[in-house]
Amino acid sequence: MKSLVIGKLRLDGNLILAPMSGVTNLPSRLLCRKYGASLVYSEMTSSEAVVRQNLRSIERGSSCEGERPMGIQLMGSVPSSMLESALILQERHRPELIDVNFGCPAQSIIKNGCGCELLKKPELIGQLVKSLSDSLDVPVTAKIRILGDFDETLRIARIIEKSGADAITIHGRTQKQGYSGKCNLDFIKRIKHELSIPVIANGDVLNEKTAKQIIEYTQCDGLMIGRAAIGNPFIFRKISHFLKTGETLPPQEMEKRLADFFEYMELCRKYGMLTYNDIKRNAQWFTKGMENVKKVRVKIDKAEDIDSIIGILKDI
Ligand SMILES: Cc1cc2nc3c(=O)[nH]c(=O)nc-3n(C[C@H](O)[C@H](O)[C@H](O)COP(=O)(O)O)c2cc1C
Repeated sequence: MKSLVIGKLRLDGNLILAPMSGVTNLPSRLLCRKYGASLVYSEMTSSEAVVRQNLRSIERGSSCEGERPMGIQLMGSVPSSMLESALILQERHRPELIDVNFGCPAQSIIKNGCGCELLKKPELIGQLVKSLSDSLDVPVTAKIRILGDFDETLRIARIIEKSGADAITIHGRTQKQGYSGKCNLDFIKRIKHELSIPVIANGDVLNEKTAKQIIEYTQCDGLMIGRAAIGNPFIFRKISHFLKTGETLPPQEMEKRLADFFEYMELCRKYGMLTYNDIKRNAQWFTKGMENVKKVRVKIDKAEDIDSIIGILKDI
C-alpha cells in the first residue's frame, strides 16, 4: 500500500474516510482510524456559520489525539468568509489539513451558490483555493465532482492545482447523478494522468475487490471511502489487508460489530455527542447486513429512547 503525501503531511497509507454530513462525527472517525483509515475528514461545516461564531458548526471540527491526522471540510462560496472561517478552525482545532467542498449536490447548499454549484464558476474556485493555500499553515485539499464534459472537468482540476491545492479528490459522478449510477473511472484516470498533485479517487468502493480495481485502474494516489464505511469501520482493515496481501479477511463477527457500536456510543457519551436520533441511526447502520436481525431492526425503529436501543442490541 502506498503512503500518500499531501503537502507537508505524510500519511501511513492511502485509504481515506470521506466527509459525510450527519455521519463522520468524531466518534465515527475514531473507529475508522482504529481500523486503519490513514486520514479522516469531518462533516462539512459552513464557513458563514463559523464566521458567525455558531458553536455547533465550529465544533464539527473538534478532534483528539487518537484520531489524527484529520481534515476539516469547509463549505462556502465567499472568499473572505472562507478564509476567516478556515483561520478560526485552524487556530481552534489544529487540523492536519483543510478541505474545500466543491461537490455537494444538496438543494439547500447549491441554492446558496455553494458545493457543486461552484463548478460553474471556475475563476471563483481558483480564488477560494488560492486564498486558503496562501494563508493557512496546513495543506489545503479540494473535493470535486466530475462534470458531463471531460475537458471542463480537467480545466477545473488544473485550476485547483494551479491555485496551490496540495491534493484533489474526485468523486466520479456528476451533480445530476447525485449518489446513484456508476462512477466514471475513466475521467478520474485521465485527470490523474494530467496532474502533478496527488489525486484521490472517490465513489463506488464497495469492498476490498472494488477498492483494488479502482486503485489499479485509475492509478490514483489514494482512495476515499464513503457509504461503505457507514456502520462498518472494519472495511478499512479489510481493504488494507487485501491490498497488502491479496487475502480476503472473513466478515467481521457479529459480536465484534456490536462491540464497535457500543464503543461508538461510549465515545459519543465521552465527547458530549450522545443523542437519541444519532444512536438510533447508528444502531440501524451497525446491524445492516447481519443475519437474522430483521426483527431487531424493526424493534430499533420503534424504540423510544437510548436505553431501549441498548437493551435490544444486548439481547441479540
Ligand atoms: C450521508 C452522506 C453525507 C455526505 N456528506 C458530504 C459532505 O459533507 N461533504 C462532501 O464533500 N461529501 C459528502 N458526501 C459525499 C461523500 O463524501 C462521497 O463523495 C460520496 O458518498 C461518494 O463516495 P461513496 O460511493 O464511497 O459513498 C456525503 C455522502 C453521504 C452518503
